[in-house]
Amino acid sequence: MHHFDYRDGVLHAEALALPRIAEDVGTPFYCYSSATLERHFKVLDAAFAKIDHLICYSLKANSNIAVIKTLANLGAGVDIVSGGELHRARAAGLPGEKIVFSGVGKTADELAMALDAGIYCFNVESEPELAALSEIARRKGVDAAISLRINPDVDARTHEKITTGRAEDKFGIGWAQAGAVYGRAAALPGIRVSGVDMHIGSQITDLAPFERAFSRLGELVRALRGQGHEISHVNIGGGLGVPYKADDPEPPHPDDYAALAIDLLGGLDCRILLEPGRMIAANAGILVCRVIYVKKTPDRTFAIVDAAMNDLVRPTLYDAYHDVRPVREPAKDAPMERIDVVGPVCESGDYLALGRNLPVLAAGDLIAFMTAGAYGAVQSGTYNSRPLIPEVMVRGEVFAVIRERPELDALIASERLPVWLAP
Ligand code: LLP
Repeated sequence: MHHFDYRDGVLHAEALALPRIAEDVGTPFYCYSSATLERHFKVLDAAFAKIDHLICYSLKANSNIAVIKTLANLGAGVDIVSGGELHRARAAGLPGEKIVFSGVGKTADELAMALDAGIYCFNVESEPELAALSEIARRKGVDAAISLRINPDVDARTHEKITTGRAEDKFGIGWAQAGAVYGRAAALPGIRVSGVDMHIGSQITDLAPFERAFSRLGELVRALRGQGHEISHVNIGGGLGVPYKADDPEPPHPDDYAALAIDLLGGLDCRILLEPGRMIAANAGILVCRVIYVKKTPDRTFAIVDAAMNDLVRPTLYDAYHDVRPVREPAKDAPMERIDVVGPVCESGDYLALGRNLPVLAAGDLIAFMTAGAYGAVQSGTYNSRPLIPEVMVRGEVFAVIRERPELDALIASERLPVWLAP
């Protein structure tokens, strides 16, 4: 469910017509609906209401500080994977006790920063990381609360590049080693064992892989307690998928996902932590752009738009499908055409939608790519020296620019000529 709909023949974000935003900020831009973000959070939070839980929104999906703050105001915690994300979380006012830190390659500086911030838990992914954390915590004279990210060897059956819980993936600590590593962790100075953690992948659209992984986690908690460890929380990661195509089967409802987690883990007397990203942010954002040219070749019709792969890399990186909607609602009997929507970047991989049956487009038309709120703006870059595009957030009838379009000077502001080239 989201709040991007046609009203009086024009696509709106909540109560605001998208052409109004386009006039103000220019195109292309990302547009987020705060009501949609809030709704997704509340639905998930309500689904877990029966048990002690904390939703740690995964910042990697969309880490604009306005997005973080919108969710933090509803009680969300956050899952971070870098010092940069920690900095954002703090800038949005998140207290340390609502932050968990994931990732396979946390550096010594990042571990130190997170210890100073007094975060709730480090999701440790290897023994060398454990040793580094122990050493830094000991030097600082503090204890780091940890969970080990366990790789449950479950195939989430999602896209190859975003499946993370199989034995051959780089993530986590092998299921078979878990007991021994917990034993060694507990003996280290500066380390306090407090939970178990997993994350098996992203855009998972059926409950079966979660069921297998949650069962394994439950088994592990019981075994660890048998060995004398105090396990007070279970982190079930993120990964619940969202529909991208109108005719995609509905992914599991958050209520069913929560019921499964509560059924398999609720009896452990543990706090449940979750790290959802996509299901909170994806449907809450769209990318709006303008057609620059329509080019016809003997084979194809190309709509060349002012957004490109540097702004939304998902189609070319993961073969991702984003629904395309013209901002002016097409008439029911509008003539249709098979169109490739492509950007201006000099690569044949620069496409946003291929072979779509769309109403005939013309130069100047605004179009929107739906479900672009997660892994959209955060994965953008400045390839071809295209500046990052603005992000705006809508609330009812008003909007705010939450990331400005930079001046071209900003593109080269941090570059320097070496002495031998300086004038
Ligand atoms: N926790 C951990 C440790 C993760 O690695 C991830 C995502 C999440 C939570 C959040 O997962 P979600 O609920 O969003 O599925 N760029 C890709 C997705 C990469 C996901 C990486 N990890 C895409 O555009 O599809």
